[in-house]
Amino acid sequence: MALIRLDKLLSNRTSHSRSDIKGILKKGAVQVDGVTECSGERKVDPDTQEITLYGKKLVGQTHVCVLLNKPQGYICATEDRMHKTVLDLLPKELRVKGLFPAGRLDVDSTGFVLLTDDGDLAHRMLAPKSHVPKYYLVKLTRPCRSEDVKHLSEGIRLGDGTECLPAEAKPLETAGNYVLICLHEGKYHQVKRMFAALGNHVERLHRVAVGGMFLPENLAFGCCIEVLHKDVENMLKSGDFDVVYERIVTNFSSYLINEGQ
Ligand code: URA
Repeated sequence: MALIRLDKLLSNRTSHSRSDIKGILKKGAVQVDGVTECSGERKVDPDTQEITLYGKKLVGQTHVCVLLNKPQGYICATEDRMHKTVLDLLPKELRVKGLFPAGRLDVDSTGFVLLTDDGDLAHRMLAPKSHVPKYYLVKLTRPCRSEDVKHLSEGIRLGDGTECLPAEAKPLETAGNYVLICLHEGKYHQVKRMFAALGNHVERLHRVAVGGMFLPENLAFGCCIEVLHKDVENMLKSGDFDVVYERIVTNFSSYLINEGQ
């Protein structure tokens, strides 16, 4: 395991905030290999060193989790002959060994992509039985009608006969052909195929949230932030469709600004 700052490690593995941790360190409550350490800047290797907080050994593994706002033209893979991959967008210091995109967005889709080196976390996020909700802001060629919303909520059948699980959808009252849709599964090109089955066409698809975790509105296309493992755990909790809808409506202009992307 690479060296990691002590304050970062503590904040990653406990429920204390980074600022709380400063105080905790100052109080002398943290020991590294039996020696009290007061500086959060100290670099440690949690695999080979024993770190204790109030005398208790820290547990859990440190993994890297990066949240990316994927632009168009990049594919969700670790390597590809034709396209640039989402890994090409990460700054050098975040390109740690074993990092991969947990889940896929099409090359022309944009938005929320989580990259991690934690296979277990990715599995819990993607396993079909987890049903972690994924929210997409979609621009359609024609408006989404109330009968389409009803069909989607009952579970739609795709052109090839594949049955989909019920999906929540709601058109954005203020923005003509935009709709927010929430899926609890991840079939190939699913959103595009669902709207095609309704005689419509997806022009833009932007993933805005997964579970209880949002893509920050101020994160530009192609930019990423490192997120704490414990925050990603929250992502696995189910989100609330109405909460996501309200947030999308409130912040809609920040998505429109980028529409040319
Ligand atoms: N559904 C699609 O059709 N495309 C994506 O990229 C994601 C979901």
